[in-house]
Amino acid sequence: MKKSKTTAEIKTLISELTLEEKAGQTSGQNFWETKPIERKSIPSFMLTDGPHGLRKQVSSADHLGISQSVPATCFPLACLTACSFDTALMQRLGEALGEECLQENVTVLLGPGANIKRSPLCGRNFEYISEDPLLTGEMATALINGVQSKNVGTSMKHYALNNQERARLTCDSQTDERALREIYLAGFETAVKKAQPWTMMCSYNKYDGTYVSENKKLLTDILRDEWGFEGAVVTDWGACNDRVEGLKAGQDLEMPSSGGVNDICIVNAVKNGTLDETVLDTATERMLNIALTSTERPSDFQYNVEEHNSLARDMATQSAVLLKNDGILPIDKNASVALIGCFAKTPRYQGSGSSRINPTSISNAYDELLLQGVNFSYCDGYSLTTDKPDRALIDEAVDLSRGKDIVFLYIGLPDIYESEGFDRSHIRLPDSHIALIDEISIINPNIVVVLHGGSAIEMPWLSEVKGLLNMMLAGQAGGAASVDLLLGNKNPCGKLAETFPHKLADNPAYKHFGGTKSVEYRESIYVGYRYYETADKPVLFPFGFGLSYTSFEYSNLRLSSNNISDSDNLTVYVTVKNTGSVAGKEIVQAYVRAPKSSIFRADKELKAFGTVTLEPQESKELALQLDKRSFAYYNVNISDWHVESGNYEILVGASVKDIRLTASAYVQSTQPEVSVPDYRGSAPAYYNLKNEVLNISKEAFEAVYGKKVVTPQPTRKGTHTVNSTISEVQDTLIGRILSKTIASSAAKMFSNDPEAMKTMKPMIDAMIPDMPLRALAMMSGGMLNITKAEGLVDLINSNVFKGLGKLIKK
Ligand code: BGC
Repeated sequence: MKKSKTTAEIKTLISELTLEEKAGQTSGQNFWETKPIERKSIPSFMLTDGPHGLRKQVSSADHLGISQSVPATCFPLACLTACSFDTALMQRLGEALGEECLQENVTVLLGPGANIKRSPLCGRNFEYISEDPLLTGEMATALINGVQSKNVGTSMKHYALNNQERARLTCDSQTDERALREIYLAGFETAVKKAQPWTMMCSYNKYDGTYVSENKKLLTDILRDEWGFEGAVVTDWGACNDRVEGLKAGQDLEMPSSGGVNDICIVNAVKNGTLDETVLDTATERMLNIALTSTERPSDFQYNVEEHNSLARDMATQSAVLLKNDGILPIDKNASVALIGCFAKTPRYQGSGSSRINPTSISNAYDELLLQGVNFSYCDGYSLTTDKPDRALIDEAVDLSRGKDIVFLYIGLPDIYESEGFDRSHIRLPDSHIALIDEISIINPNIVVVLHGGSAIEMPWLSEVKGLLNMMLAGQAGGAASVDLLLGNKNPCGKLAETFPHKLADNPAYKHFGGTKSVEYRESIYVGYRYYETADKPVLFPFGFGLSYTSFEYSNLRLSSNNISDSDNLTVYVTVKNTGSVAGKEIVQAYVRAPKSSIFRADKELKAFGTVTLEPQESKELALQLDKRSFAYYNVNISDWHVESGNYEILVGASVKDIRLTASAYVQSTQPEVSVPDYRGSAPAYYNLKNEVLNISKEAFEAVYGKKVVTPQPTRKGTHTVNSTISEVQDTLIGRILSKTIASSAAKMFSNDPEAMKTMKPMIDAMIPDMPLRALAMMSGGMLNITKAEGLVDLINSNVFKGLGKLIKK
């Protein structure tokens, strides 16, 4: 971070500010900007979404992607770029994003999103990196380093445990300490330690009964005291509950703002002695550190739109995952092709919500096939407005496919299936898309599916197709990238950053996902492949899996030592040879298997990965680094990481299932005396996962959780607070009127925009019931502030005069 004043100068500056000015620095002046203090030449600065492009809104502002933003490159989404396992590529993406921020005078980009994909149902998985914390942490680090190399900040989000969209503003995530550390925080930890994001965005939800925005354990004890975070904590938009408590807990900037109400609370708290002024000074200093970077950036920077579009295309080609190829790809350019599916002309290339970008251009497969001289005929195959199969469209597609050498089916999840603000209820494709596969495969077996969508899906139809290319959500240049891969101009090299299970019920969070008041993370550390591998549960496509048009041979696995102390580093060397006839890039993965112990461990954990690009017949040696954390588990008895002495297996392979070479090293613990937790008596289920559906009893979970599970109760009539949700206040007339008013103003918001009506309206509708009244203040576009929201609560609780008093108060 390059800033125009030294720390000493900033401290002096703070001593010259009034209490009101300092409080003012800790909340937004509007939706996207902080407040300037002109008399002291302190500029305001802009924070904006993120994460895979810039969503800088020019006129009306919102945090849900409703109003239009300036054109920006829509790069492939994290769900896809994660599949590149390529940190250098991710860093380039970060640099490009940083450049777009420079042009648009944006100081902090709201990203990357680093929540763990606990369930494929999470509506926002497309913005997140992986089910694995190591991959999450390394890719996030690279992106942050890239952006910040331009002297532009990032906001790593949503810290923490925001693993579902349902009731995200109120739900309490109940996670045992070990899962918290090993799974949900580890990615954030890596990035904080290696890249120091300028800001961290605290999430909406609660953790262990306390809103994250005022959770001292997360915001200060762990983030700052343990990891050494130096930046500022920013609330997710509207995540602030109690501003003064938040400040004390380590929350620096409230966004967007409370319309000044909370600034006054801060001033009053300092005056009446309930808030130490030094806490405010520290938050102010963190904000000024960022504000005073602005003069250190070029004021007339222009990024190269074409270059960024090429990077978006390159990233999509290097990340797309070839999941099936029965010798059908790449196709011969002279083949006759039936191109079917609206997504070939109108690609689904990004997700809905706050990350929605207004792209600088959009490529599609149809135009690209024309451009590349392929002989093809096209039809829609399905409608974009309904998922019911349409007989006429299917018949047309079947006719078109008859006699063709190959059928490209562009299908996947439509916008309304996944979005910020709600979760999926199943992981199937629309019936209209499946019907196409079923019916075309009868008359033409040469089907290649090109899949779009932000997370895993079930594929009961897989045996009916010969090829499957997963483009996920590939950004604005994804259409062109898909054609390059299908024609073999480029060789696919991405590998899955999340497991594709056979069916939803196989997912370890299946029984405990989507609660509205609380969610028990009963599966503990068994997230994603950690569960499937340990439980020996067959999956559709394993973590780390992806095909290539060439083949790779692994040999010469050796370790820098076979006997180390846990304070030593260990280097894993492996030689990879391209044994095919085209150049290719291979992603090499190193997993560690811990020795059997009294503490339950996952069968395999990813501990290092690397990529290697090879010409045909070329070989190269790759060196992967392991350290203490590669062997450690989080020991709740000592509140620290601990390595047990023993033989650890190092498994090197092409996916979590395709282990090619194995070695072992004896690791000597530097803390052999430490007591290792043992739940074999109290929670045996964690040691034997081989059930049809993962079923951990409350008692077993509580043994590992270390306390009783608290199930929050819905608020009752007459006792509502600003944190009661719209659905909870339905027990009163005013609550019902309120709910209808919100629904009808949401409908009006989109009445002139059919596109937004299609994609955004379902999101708003899904969010309304779980919205706390507190959030109304932010959603009302200035009509309501927190005091007025409190007034509404009084009315709802039948305190009519008190309520009216607050509602008419200026
Ligand atoms: C999202 C954040 C986003 C913010 C600002 C919130 O609804 O959760 O990810 O950065 O809005 O748009």
